Amino acid sequence: MSVGSDPLSDDAQALAWLLRWYADMGVDAAVDPIAHDRFAESAPAPKAGGPPIRAPFVPPSPKPAATASLPIDVPAGAAEGLPPARTLDELRAQLLAFEGCALKATATQLVFADGNPQADIMFVGEAPGADEDRQGLPFVGRAGQLLDKMLAAIDLDRRHVYIANVVPWRPPGNRTPTPLETSACLPFMRRQIELVSPKILVCLGAAATQTLIGVKEGIMRIRGRWYDYDMAGARIPAIAMLHPAYLLRQPSHKKFAWQDLRELAKKMRAM
Ligand code: URA
Repeated sequence: MSVGSDPLSDDAQALAWLLRWYADMGVDAAVDPIAHDRFAESAPAPKAGGPPIRAPFVPPSPKPAATASLPIDVPAGAAEGLPPARTLDELRAQLLAFEGCALKATATQLVFADGNPQADIMFVGEAPGADEDRQGLPFVGRAGQLLDKMLAAIDLDRRHVYIANVVPWRPPGNRTPTPLETSACLPFMRRQIELVSPKILVCLGAAATQTLIGVKEGIMRIRGRWYDYDMAGARIPAIAMLHPAYLLRQPSHKKFAWQDLRELAKKMRAM
């Protein structure tokens, strides 16, 4: 090693940079210590004695444009076959036993809900982040602290609202849940809303709004608007709001959140 050079060898230095780059890109969870060749796994098995058969190349068909009509492909082991949970505890137990969403394998634990199950207002976010994954409660990290301030601005706190996420397991690296993951969890979320039976639903961010309300537009177009949420046949008002994590990145947009909170307070007073 030359005097003044980095104490790490070139290889170790390159690996350290690669790891840092992965972490910066949000890849902060190892799914499996072994690399898998998923193409080989899905290729047809070779006939006994015959030469190995290569799977013919089939060009991927163009993906249909994302639409609001979820669910899309619901994976095997999906919630559809389960009897509807009669209580929130039963629903939590069903989720704990559910193997139809791959996120469960990489998350530390289920993040079910926080707040008051008797509340008239239910907030739904996208998916737990690292702090929520560690503590098992939704919105406890920086975004959660901002959500608490937003609630306080209209004289609410967690004793007055119920809080959950459309996906109850943390996606690795905090990526957005895929449509498949979201649709696998959607029947549970719908049942959770029915069991809480709020008078008002607040969707935090585009993902929650698009999933629950079925609108396609971006959050800046849909925020502050009232929609009808179909709660097992009963229509309840639902509003889209900017997600607190987004507001942390775009503090100048807090003025819109304030407008939407006032809209929510107005609706609460009218109920
Ligand atoms: N973001 C969410 O959507 N949900 C959480 O619980 C935390 C951050």
